[in-house]
Amino acid sequence: MKSTMQEFFQKYPKIKYLYFGGKGGVGKTVVACATALWCAKQGKKTLLASTNPVHSLTTLLEQDVFGKETLVNGTDSLYALEIDTKETIERSKKEIEEKISWFLKFADIPVKADDFIETATMNPAFEESAMFENMTNIIFEDKYDLYVFDTAPTANARRLLGMSKVYTLWVDKMLKSRQEADEMRIKLSFKKKTKEEKDPLLEYLTQFRGRIEKMRDLLTDEQLSAFFFVTLLESLPIAVIRRFIGWFKDFGIPIGGVIINEVIEKSEISDDTAEFILNRIKMQDRYKDEVYKSFSNVCGEIPLFEREVRGVDMVKRVSEKLFP
Ligand SMILES: Nc1ncnc2c1ncn2[C@@H]1O[C@H](COP(=O)(O)OP(=O)(O)O)[C@@H](O)[C@H]1O
Ligand SMILES: [Mg+2]
Repeated sequence: MKSTMQEFFQKYPKIKYLYFGGKGGVGKTVVACATALWCAKQGKKTLLASTNPVHSLTTLLEQDVFGKETLVNGTDSLYALEIDTKETIERSKKEIEEKISWFLKFADIPVKADDFIETATMNPAFEESAMFENMTNIIFEDKYDLYVFDTAPTANARRLLGMSKVYTLWVDKMLKSRQEADEMRIKLSFKKKTKEEKDPLLEYLTQFRGRIEKMRDLLTDEQLSAFFFVTLLESLPIAVIRRFIGWFKDFGIPIGGVIINEVIEKSEISDDTAEFILNRIKMQDRYKDEVYKSFSNVCGEIPLFEREVRGVDMVKRVSEKLFP
């Protein structure tokens, strides 16, 4: 059974956060952009945000949207933003540095902070997690009717949801022991001023817990959030979304649907179509069967265009195919 993107939006009129996941190069940015364009046309003030370190949106839209929310040419309510990855990561590093140094000082631990900071920031998950933080900030600012993220924070969403109970427990425990320590400090102290001393770590932990809980609520609310998965008719991209969808089902993250990209149109076949292309069409037919059998919610097929997708006009063509 095939549904459509329009049906999805009719079914979820309050939808606010859309994410696009899938293997690299399958067309996430293109499909996200086409969807955002359609949503903006429906009158929603829409932000299309990319957390991708390569300048994909600027290239696709042929417009500089790097580091600032920019109105997309030829539209009146679509804004695009390419998050400055380097800046985000630097800022995150700084914040962690401050917290660690502060904590070591507060707890009177006579160690240099550098080693801790290195362990906290030199791991591969750190960058992704900094980007996720940034995405959370954009969401919590709440300036738009609708948000489209061109790369689903798959690993992070999964980690956040898988860990959120543990995080909350951990933060609660930290809070409790800090409060106890504080009370003790005040009791034991000769100086009166200790009482007024603020505890930034305590504040941070409380805020951190609040953010996790709010993000978890948003990510699992099917009225508000949906993850779409883009695939080509090839084995590897299909395997990737199969795995993602499996994870997401386990965590109760709402799945909007599967979008098939770069389908070679049969109407293009003629008597002199090359063997090479006929073979690819046969291959696509096989994988298409597999996709429809495996996923109950295929909600769009986009043809392979005669050239790469660049410029708003070309994105409009994609949009018309996705929202026929
Ligand atoms: N339907 C299509 N027809 C032709 N080219 C496409 C199509 N979809 C995507 N492309 C091209 O494929 C490349 C990868 O697309 P992109 O959206 O950047 O992928 P991702 O964001 O998943 O890495 C781009 O050069 C894009 O122009
Ligand atoms: Mg991309």
